[in-house]
Amino acid sequence: MAANLEVDPSALTTRLDSPDGRSFVVRGPASERPMAGDYLELEGEGGMLAFVEDVAVDAGDTVFSATGTLVPVGDGSGAAGRPVDSAWHAVAVRTTHPDAVARLLSGTDPELHLGQLAGHDSVGVALVPNRLNRHTFWCGQSGSGKTYALGVLLERILLSTRLPMVVFDPNSDFVRLHEQAVAPASDQARALREREVVILRPDDAESPLRVRFTELTARAKAAVLRLDPIVDRAEYNALLRLFDSDFDTVDAERIVPYLRSLGDPDAEALAQRLENLGVVEWRTTWAFGATPATEVIAGRPAATVLDLGGYDRSEEQLAVALAVLDDLWARRGERRPLLIVVDEAHNLCPPDPETPLGVAVRDRLIQIAAEGRKYGLWLLLSTQRPSKVHPGIVSQCDNLTLMRMNSRDDLDQLASVFGFVPRGLLAQAARFRQGEALLAGGFVTMPSIVRVRGRVTPQGGTDVPVPMP
Ligand SMILES: Nc1ncnc2c1ncn2[C@@H]1O[C@H](COP(=O)(O)OP(=O)(O)OP(=O)(O)O)[C@@H](O)[C@H]1O
Ligand SMILES: [Mg+2]
Repeated sequence: MAANLEVDPSALTTRLDSPDGRSFVVRGPASERPMAGDYLELEGEGGMLAFVEDVAVDAGDTVFSATGTLVPVGDGSGAAGRPVDSAWHAVAVRTTHPDAVARLLSGTDPELHLGQLAGHDSVGVALVPNRLNRHTFWCGQSGSGKTYALGVLLERILLSTRLPMVVFDPNSDFVRLHEQAVAPASDQARALREREVVILRPDDAESPLRVRFTELTARAKAAVLRLDPIVDRAEYNALLRLFDSDFDTVDAERIVPYLRSLGDPDAEALAQRLENLGVVEWRTTWAFGATPATEVIAGRPAATVLDLGGYDRSEEQLAVALAVLDDLWARRGERRPLLIVVDEAHNLCPPDPETPLGVAVRDRLIQIAAEGRKYGLWLLLSTQRPSKVHPGIVSQCDNLTLMRMNSRDDLDQLASVFGFVPRGLLAQAARFRQGEALLAGGFVTMPSIVRVRGRVTPQGGTDVPVPMP
């Protein structure tokens, strides 16, 4: 470091070296230092940009050195006349024109833009939709704008793709995804109206959110009734026999009397359990005669929103989520693509759920995270901190959206799980404003800090304003 004190910054020019044609180091006077996320242009080499990932300045604040990745633009062949991956030595660089960055990030369809590149209002950052065939982690502290931005993504998917989705919505934030708030007469609003968006809500008479108890897996039924197949083997067995019999369960009122009428002590114990847990009373959970959510989703509307926020009990939310996830898993062999969006994912897949139902939901999500990709079951999980979701799920995610995040521990954890995201970009998340997001992974061309665009549909539950005189 002492040697740097002798450097005359005015004698330095900014030069790039790349031994392999892929990674690079740029050095120059500290006054010209770029920021992580900037693009530099190689003088006389129009086909190549240098994407800055990390920047360091020497102790004397004289010289900077930046590292990053060389990115071919245009036809992808790199700089004219040079073999790919050939070394570069002492090439002069300067900040590039936004048009060159737009050629790299914006794609050809402005409808796919998720927002503008931070600091460059003219550069739209496009979603790469065919890379939604991976799991995506969506993270940021409370109020950072996750749910709003997630709505932006879902609108873009509805407008520009034919990828169906199911949304687990614990705060009733997406129950207005079928309405148009902004310029209802605009082309986008019209195009959105043409997509089939089904909102299922517990107390909606026309589109009730229901699942069928009889169609739950044996494990799910046991989880709802907090039965252990070994510890509670007699009652568990009575449960199995109930559904093996030709008992008609469409009428909820008849289950307990029917069990009692059998004169069997195990059936009696099961009847008591049903009464004590009040499970039969979950009137807005069980389908009985109504169409269950599993059937609606199997019809693959463009979007199905499950308003889990409409339930009072978390057990009902979990029972509905389990029924839907188990059904999707049971039908995985059909290999029909579906984006499974889970807002507030810590409700459904925390590291240590407290109830058997919670464990069953989490385990199914772990399985979908590990094996669902090849069957077309792709997760998009949103939460406030990476540690609030089971690590076996986070580690399966290939796309990351990071919104404001102050906690250094959380940023370190994200850096270790998402090794492909440059640290220099992650570190900036502590200073993000609401609506700014770092997007990284295949679903964008390059890791980019984006100011998300406006919504077309209204967000269901927005922040409560402070009352003023
Ligand atoms: N880009 C934006 N433009 C306009 N309003 C926004 C934007 N982002 C967020 N908001 C508003 O700010 C509030 C908080 O945003 P949001 O609900 O998306 O936060 P969140 O990160 O999901 O928080 P939580 O973790 O508590 O759910 C909401 O009222 C939302 O409508
Ligand atoms: Mg939210």
